[in-house]
Amino acid sequence: MLSGYPSELEDHIMLANRHLLHIRPLRPCEDGPVRELYRHLSPRTRYLRFFSPMPVLPDSVLGLLTGVDYRRRLALLAEVETAGGVEVVALGSFGATDGSRAEVALVVRDEWQRQGIGIAVAARVLRAAEARGFDRFVAYALRENVVIRKVLDHVGDLVSTKTSDGVCEMSFVRRRPA
Ligand SMILES: CC(C)(COP(=O)(O)OP(=O)(O)OC[C@H]1O[C@@H](n2cnc3c(N)ncnc32)[C@H](O)[C@@H]1OP(=O)(O)O)[C@@H](O)C(=O)NCCC(=O)NCCS
Repeated sequence: MLSGYPSELEDHIMLANRHLLHIRPLRPCEDGPVRELYRHLSPRTRYLRFFSPMPVLPDSVLGLLTGVDYRRRLALLAEVETAGGVEVVALGSFGATDGSRAEVALVVRDEWQRQGIGIAVAARVLRAAEARGFDRFVAYALRENVVIRKVLDHVGDLVSTKTSDGVCEMSFVRRRPA
């Protein structure tokens, strides 16, 4: 069942360089921004996010990313207004794996990395997930991916990790603000 558009999740982030990012929930089947973001990711970033540097995002993966229902599957986009129009700079999402657990994933466009966007989007995705009844999270990342661990250090408390075939499964809970 599709719930209404969660406009309460719309938000703004002011970066240190004074760029203003607009955060908004992705709408069901809204392929355009996801394709555009993917087109602008480096092969390395694609590899870190999808474990494969696929030159084009397969429809099956696109379908998973855009198959949001705002309840068990939800994604947040970060966008910036440029002279050429709106540019998508990040996508964070969660998808339920059972009634209380959700898988979280995140990607930030290369030239926008290291500005706090990953942490800001991850924190909002986790808050949105908790508001929908999910309190245990899992993220999958390549073993070599130290950056996603740093992001999780800011927003979560690790419960367990398990590595298999070079992929690390990190289970965590949301870090409550002190
Ligand atoms: C992981 C990712 C989303 C982080 O996004 P980001 O916007 O660069 O992250 P932030 O700017 O919020 O930084 C988070 C932390 O990582 C650190 N960091 C970011 N990029 C880094 C890099 N290339 N090398 C070392 N540290 C880095 C930041 O310094 C910060 O740590 P600190 O505050 O403890 O010093 C981004 O690197 C990315 O899209 N990677 C590819 C996709 C991916 O790996 N997804 C995870 C699997 S789902």
